[in-house]
Amino acid sequence: MPDPQPPDSLSAYLAPEGFVADLQHELGGDALETHDRLVLARTANPRPVWVANTWHAPQRIEIASIGDAVKKLRAIQRNWALYSYAEHRRAALIAEQLPKVSAKPLSFGAPAPSAPLGSWTLLDKTTLLAAPRCSSPFPNGEVHFIEDRTTPPSRAYLKLWELFTLLGEHPKPGEFCLDLGASPGGWSWVLAGLGARVHSVDKAPLDPAIAAHPNIETLRESAFGLDPAKVGPVDWLFSDIVCYPARLYTLVEKWRATGNVRRFACTLKFQGPTDFDTMRKFAAIPDSRLLHLHANKHELTWIKLR
Ligand SMILES: C[S@@+](CC[C@H](N)C(=O)[O-])C[C@H]1O[C@@H](n2cnc3c(N)ncnc32)[C@H](O)[C@@H]1O
Repeated sequence: MPDPQPPDSLSAYLAPEGFVADLQHELGGDALETHDRLVLARTANPRPVWVANTWHAPQRIEIASIGDAVKKLRAIQRNWALYSYAEHRRAALIAEQLPKVSAKPLSFGAPAPSAPLGSWTLLDKTTLLAAPRCSSPFPNGEVHFIEDRTTPPSRAYLKLWELFTLLGEHPKPGEFCLDLGASPGGWSWVLAGLGARVHSVDKAPLDPAIAAHPNIETLRESAFGLDPAKVGPVDWLFSDIVCYPARLYTLVEKWRATGNVRRFACTLKFQGPTDFDTMRKFAAIPDSRLLHLHANKHELTWIKLR
C-alpha cells in the first residue's frame, strides 16, 4: 500500500463516515479547513489513522464553467472520483463528462485497481479542490465486493476480504493461522477457503457448517488463556476479539515476545470514546501500521507483516 508523504506539503484527509472528530483530534493544529468529511491539513507525520482516503498535494483550481472544470481535470489525468458534499447538481454535471470509473463491485481474489485515481470536490461554484494522487485505489476509499450472503455466518468476513485486497497478500495454502475471537466463523471461513490451516479460538461456538471444514480446528476457550509455547510457530495471528484495545495490546505484546508469530492482523474495537493512547501504542510498534477499513465500524485494523 504505497502512501508517500512529501514533507512540508498539504494533504486533504477524507474521514470515514462518522469519524471527522477523531481525524480532527489526530491532526490537532495541523488541520486548516474542514469541508464536511474532508479535512485540509499540513501533511501529518505520523500519518493519521482515521482516514478513508488521503489526497496528496491537493490543488485549488478556479473554474469558469462546467466545461472548464472538465477540461482542467482531464488535462491533469484521466481517472477521477468525485467526493460531493455541496453543489451536488453542478458536481454531478462535471462528473458525467469525465471518463467513467468502474463502480462494479469487486470479486474477492481480483486485484485492487492499479490505474491512478484522483479525487476532486467542488468547494464552491467556481473552485475545485483536486488531487491526482490519492492513497486509495477506490473512490473515496470505499471498497465494495460481490458479497456471499449465504455461506459466511457473519459479515465480518468483509474486513478480511478488504484487507487482503489492499495488501495484495493473504495466507497461502498450508500456512498456519490462529483466529482469536473466531465465532461465529466468518474469518475462519475466509482463511480455510484460502487453504490455510486454522485454529479458531472462542468461548462461543463456531457455526457448525464452518466448524466442519477440514482445515479448521476449534478451541472453546478464552484467547487470553492460550499458552504461546504450546501453540508453536504461527504464520498469521488474527484477532477480532471483542475487548478493550488496551487488553488486546497486552495480548499482542505477549505473542510478539515469543518471536514465533510472522504476521498479525487484529481489530481494535473501541467501546465508548476512542482510546487514542492505546491507538498510539499500536501505531508505534515497529514495522506495523494501523488503518481504518471501509468495513470497520468504530474499529481500526492493526497489521504487522514482518
Ligand atoms: C465480532 S465477534 C468475531 C467475529 C468473527 N471474526 C467472524 O468473522 O465471525 C467477536 C468475538 O469475540 C469473542 N470473544 C470475546 N472475548 C473472548 C475471549 N476472551 N476469548 C476468545 N474470544 C472472545 C466473542 O465471543 C465473539 O464471538
